[in-house]
Amino acid sequence: MKVLVGGATGLVGGALVNYLTASRIEILRLSRSSSPAGEPTVRWDPAAGRLPAAELEGVDAVVHLAGETITGRWTEAKKSRIRSSRIDGTRLLSQTLAGLQRPPKVLICASAVGFYGDRGEETCTEQSAPGQGFLTDVVTEWEAATTAAKEAGIRVVHLRIGVVLSPSGGALAKMLLPFRLGLGGRIGSGRQYMSWVTLDDLVRMIDHLITHDEVCGVVNAVAPQAVTNAAFTRSLGRALRRPAVLPVPAFLIRLLFGEMGRSLLLSSTRVEPVVLGTSGYEFVHPTLDEALVELVRGN
Ligand SMILES: NC(=O)c1ccc[n+]([C@@H]2O[C@H](COP(=O)([O-])OP(=O)(O)OC[C@H]3O[C@@H](n4cnc5c(N)ncnc54)[C@H](OP(=O)(O)O)[C@@H]3O)[C@@H](O)[C@H]2O)c1
Repeated sequence: MKVLVGGATGLVGGALVNYLTASRIEILRLSRSSSPAGEPTVRWDPAAGRLPAAELEGVDAVVHLAGETITGRWTEAKKSRIRSSRIDGTRLLSQTLAGLQRPPKVLICASAVGFYGDRGEETCTEQSAPGQGFLTDVVTEWEAATTAAKEAGIRVVHLRIGVVLSPSGGALAKMLLPFRLGLGGRIGSGRQYMSWVTLDDLVRMIDHLITHDEVCGVVNAVAPQAVTNAAFTRSLGRALRRPAVLPVPAFLIRLLFGEMGRSLLLSSTRVEPVVLGTSGYEFVHPTLDEALVELVRGN
């Protein structure tokens, strides 16, 4: 089997390529730059609408994870890059795949639990209505950008990913130093829910979804137990054997990070992975305590 991976240079894409390669799956990368190690790569320029279609012929599955990082201050220019790198890039890829002589069977496209917005204690499933705000709007359009692929008969999966936990990048890696120094603590009230998934589980889920032909549409890529920020803080403190009692007030988050801080750190999203459960996916890390102990061990 040959799998095209967009965003293979990123946190999730890099881990996915390693995982699939170990299963002897052939990988073709989709990147804005060529691979320094000379790995097979299709170069594209999504901002300019350039993607060499002929180089995609013969691919069986596509996993698309590319997009401007959402961390950092959300200036108008940054928001525009967040939006266009996902929506325009996905539309270009989807239209190109639809026009191939032999289109791939499946397109698994990254999406995010940001779709559900700030929902307090409500549990959101794949059937839940959208929330409100910038992330909801981006995700809605991002998912709609795959229309051409769907119309061409390609099975499309929208992977609504939660906070990805890995010691080598993303949110957890940023938290490790302050928590190790005993400077960790809950954010704001700590009552906001956080839907998380370990990087190990995420790459296994993607592999599972590539082969499970019966699954299409929205799939929540989160562990079965979302936790509040206060519970996450306690769990990380325990895993590192450090006190985690210095709260970060909400006003400071708003001051330092503006809209990004409100949307990512203070809002509450409690998501359940219903479709993964019914499709028979078995989690490596279903609970946070065990996941964090394993992730921080030796790091
Ligand atoms: N990590 C998380 O906690 C999390 C949570 C929810 C959703 N997601 C979604 O999952 C996907 C993968 O996440 P990740 O953490 O692996 O992301 P990442 O490490 O930031 O990597 C994303 C990749 O996208 C490409 N990229 C970056 N800026 C781009 C731009 N302006 N235009 C086009 N391509 C660009 C880059 O590939 P090249 O330089 O090779 O082109 C990069 O390697 C993203 O779409 C993200 O929104 C992630």
